[in-house]
Amino acid sequence: MNKLILKLALISGIVFLSSCTSDTGYEFMPNMYRSPSIETYAEHTISGYDGIPVEGTIARGYLSTFNYDGTLEDYLLAGKNAVNPLENNTENLADGKALYGMFCEHCHGATGSGDGTVTHPIYSAVPHYNDDKLKRRCDVPMCELKAGHIFHAITYGLNAMGPHASQISEDERWKITLYVQEELQNLGK
Ligand code: HEC
Repeated sequence: MNKLILKLALISGIVFLSSCTSDTGYEFMPNMYRSPSIETYAEHTISGYDGIPVEGTIARGYLSTFNYDGTLEDYLLAGKNAVNPLENNTENLADGKALYGMFCEHCHGATGSGDGTVTHPIYSAVPHYNDDKLKRRCDVPMCELKAGHIFHAITYGLNAMGPHASQISEDERWKITLYVQEELQNLGK
């Protein structure tokens, strides 16, 4: 009986000591246990990857016809250089009118005179599109804003007017811009 206890003690002693090693043993697929994680939107460290978006995907916020950021400097540049890529035809104007009705009219009003149904005091100073007196940040009045100014305002907003980039596609923004320029800026003149 004593011998048996001695043997058992010896065996468990060997097992106990053999487990005292830092070697984790053979890992069949180490990347599955310790995946090379990357934080969302962080810089990557994957060698060989050049950062070019995968074919058929679009980088976040990328616009193919308008590459200006939300600064005053870029607003002024956009006013000078951005060109509406859409044709001025009845179809685009009709789409622009419908989109204006959905996204702008409640503040800017059906005729663009700032008399929309939103009456909260925060939006008390909605400018008239056909105003020819009060100079805006680009040093011209509302009725002379260029396509780039309007597209920039829709994309990035201005003070109480929030940005509409996430709600309105690039193409739709140009349609609204076309409608504002063709139908509202000179209304009543
Ligand atoms: C929630 C109300 C609201 C909505 C919706 C809104 N706007 Fe405005 N918008 C304003 C206000 C308020 C201002 C004046 C901001 C200021 O001068 O501080 C303004 C200013 C502007 C300006 C002048 C920007 C400049 O450069 O001076 C343009 C252009 C404009 N809006 C176009 C639009 C268009 C187009 C839409 C629809 C896509 C739209 N807005 C939707 C409230 C709104």
